[in-house]
Amino acid sequence: MLIAAKRPRKSFDWHFGLELYWRHTFFNGASDMKYGHFDDQNREYVITQPDTPLPWINYLGCQAYFGIISNTAGGYSFYRDARLRRLTRYRYNNAPFDFGGRYVYLRDDQSGEFWSPSWQPTRHDLKDYTCRHGMGYTTIGSEYSGIQAQTRYFVPLDENLEIWQLTVTNRRPARAQLSSFACIEFCLWDAQDDATNFQRNFNTGQVEVEGGVIYHKTEYRERRNHFAYFACSEPGATFDTQREAFLGRYRGWDKPATVEAGQLTNSIAHGWSPIGAHQVKLDLAPGESRQIVFVLGYHENPIDRKFDPPGSQTINKTLVKPVIARYLNASEADAAFERLRQYWDGLLNIFQVNTPDIHTNRMVNIWNAYQCMATFNMSRSASFYESGIGRGLGFRDSNQDLLGFVHMAPARARERIIDLAATQLPTGGAYHQYQPLTKRGNNDIGGGFNDDPHWLILGVSAYLKETGDWSILDEKVPYDNEPGSEKPLYEHLQRSFRYTLARLGPHGLPLIGRADWNDCLNLNCFSDTPGQSFQTTTNKDGKVAESVFIAGLFVHAGQELAAIARHRGLASEASSYLAEAAKMESVIHEHGWDGEWFLRAYDDFGAKIGSRECEEGKIFIETNGYCVLAGIGIEDGKAAKAMTAVGEHLATKHGIVLQQPAYSKYYLNLGEISSYPPGYKENAGIFCHNNPWVIIGETRLGHGDLAHDYYSRINPSAREEISDLHRCEPYVYAQMIAGKDAPSFGEAKNSWLTGTAAWNYYAIVQWILGVRTSLDGLQIAPVIPKSWPGFTATRTFRGVVYKISIERKGEGNRIALTVDGKPIEGDIVPPPADGRKEVSVKGVLS
Ligand code: GLC
Ligand code: GLC
Repeated sequence: MLIAAKRPRKSFDWHFGLELYWRHTFFNGASDMKYGHFDDQNREYVITQPDTPLPWINYLGCQAYFGIISNTAGGYSFYRDARLRRLTRYRYNNAPFDFGGRYVYLRDDQSGEFWSPSWQPTRHDLKDYTCRHGMGYTTIGSEYSGIQAQTRYFVPLDENLEIWQLTVTNRRPARAQLSSFACIEFCLWDAQDDATNFQRNFNTGQVEVEGGVIYHKTEYRERRNHFAYFACSEPGATFDTQREAFLGRYRGWDKPATVEAGQLTNSIAHGWSPIGAHQVKLDLAPGESRQIVFVLGYHENPIDRKFDPPGSQTINKTLVKPVIARYLNASEADAAFERLRQYWDGLLNIFQVNTPDIHTNRMVNIWNAYQCMATFNMSRSASFYESGIGRGLGFRDSNQDLLGFVHMAPARARERIIDLAATQLPTGGAYHQYQPLTKRGNNDIGGGFNDDPHWLILGVSAYLKETGDWSILDEKVPYDNEPGSEKPLYEHLQRSFRYTLARLGPHGLPLIGRADWNDCLNLNCFSDTPGQSFQTTTNKDGKVAESVFIAGLFVHAGQELAAIARHRGLASEASSYLAEAAKMESVIHEHGWDGEWFLRAYDDFGAKIGSRECEEGKIFIETNGYCVLAGIGIEDGKAAKAMTAVGEHLATKHGIVLQQPAYSKYYLNLGEISSYPPGYKENAGIFCHNNPWVIIGETRLGHGDLAHDYYSRINPSAREEISDLHRCEPYVYAQMIAGKDAPSFGEAKNSWLTGTAAWNYYAIVQWILGVRTSLDGLQIAPVIPKSWPGFTATRTFRGVVYKISIERKGEGNRIALTVDGKPIEGDIVPPPADGRKEVSVKGVLS
């Protein structure tokens, strides 16, 4: 099973230019290349070659203290907010890639040779290099010159710190005298300021060193009551805290002068760049192993107990010392690691499946679910592509993320929903983003993205279906966080729905505003000024450009809201939502249909977008996927036609592109979409977020084979064999795979933090496997490939464990269910009446 990674044979000549390089490498070259393998038993991806095409990262932490870590120990840590409370420094877009990290060096004190067991930063030719990315932890190790070393990094539950457990083993026949060095570079808290404001920052850095612990206390003297620390389990370690003392002049992390000399200098940082470095000497007999524990953490003191003694400038360490001491103890660290494993087992075991397709299994059971938790925790803030200083939480993004994690963290989903709704405006519109630390709407970006409010309806609906917690609708939530404006959450949903009715355009379709789901279709922007934001610049009054996408979304939200109203006993209100949805549906039939597929939009001149009449951008994925997902055109054959058109014009072997033909030039009336070179991002890239809409659409038409085929084309695990082409991690989705118009067709970018995670999880679990939450109970309605003999699954739903087994007896999607041996009507398994906690569900497909 374990396929040893081969080295890529990259025989290309730079003289032929970059484009030729892509074409050569990707089409004729070593595109059958892997850099590791899945270890499904341990829920790990095992990287066996350090020079992955891009840094392949993982996340540490799942509550308040977080880190990103690459397969060569690059990355950084922060407390809650990746911009404002950045603990360690990282250099994005550096050459070489991925600089700044949790670095360990080993030095042979007899020969003077030194290396890094995680490959970076010294990049030696290591034996048995292995990085295991697991659920909330990463272990990186290797052997060099007879010395084996590995470091396990993780964040214990309920603590604001990370543990590094470094184990060094002497595999030589003789004794080994070694020095180990562990180091990090502190960030001066605000990552944006840290990277720009040098005239100030070169003066502010301060540290304390006490009892072998390095405390980073920049700005603690004034308005901060928090500090960072880096501790080492070995008494008597020497240290450095000033970067230049550690590295030496004009030297990099690959060759620190002190490591080369074998001696740290006990430097104390004043200004410049505070770091934390510890040196521990090891004298190991043949076969002997030693473990050293490092703890990197964040601590807040009560304002009135900042200093010890009071009135001094010395950090009061009474509260933090016991925490540090506890986790420097290896057996405490091991116990914390065990608790972390159990936590993840608990979350992932809520839904487990066994199908004939290994890629489906490992994504559903492990990685896709894990990625959904990461997108929930991080939103779009910190990854290798999101710098951690950019966006706040997106209103539409966060609501959609709920689809993927609500079953694992319902209480946190509830809190997120309330936070989001509290940023809704009294008009029913929404701030496009909010800042997680203040939980307030972001004024710089404002509102006016006319799809936003509907995602709240869908987010709340997903929560209700999962939990049955109807009390959330009565929760009093303010508008725009304005005290006194509190209204039941249910009213927020009503306003969301009505927002669109008050903003209809010339054809009776919803006005698009600044953009709909497609942030880059900016029909009211008309920007010819460099540097303007396409999303917030509006040079048109917005009374003409309409979105067929929002129309489809409105129909879907209307159906969901009607179901919620009906459940609340509001029958006539429910009918009115359905009536509005039906009215919109007929407008779509009349003005949103192009003959073979759904139109995309009307621009500011009232001209069609996404029509065969257009020169470029004749057909788009969003409306075709979403309208069919919403059930539009299923009865009269439009849905089938639209799906056929998507298959013909948009589907490629690497996924479904966003539109065709790609825009070859900039169109003032279309905005950012036409700013991207053809094949990238919203300009005909494979935007993996919306592929699942087509996948769900195909299941609604009963096409299990095609649905699963589309699912597999972008399934990262199924693309593992082409890692040299795909380039991003084979264990998580990326936002985009370059489309067929791009020279690098098939190359993924922007992995981890994308709505792709939630939507693909939702599509495979709820629509292909058909294990679907509903307001009335767990629905079982699989639309699986014909070749599958069936599958089994376990789902914990509202406190009951459902053991599901599906058997195929015919080629169709008709399901007959028995629950604990008794046949039931329909496909919804009602909650067990007698309080049983486990139910066996058998389904026969014919
Ligand atoms: C990004 C944004 C998301 C948007 C999508 C398409 O993923 O985060 O809000 O819908 O791009 O433009
Ligand atoms: C940029 C990106 C787009 C993203 C948007 C979010 O426009 O190209 O994909 O949705 O930023 O602000």
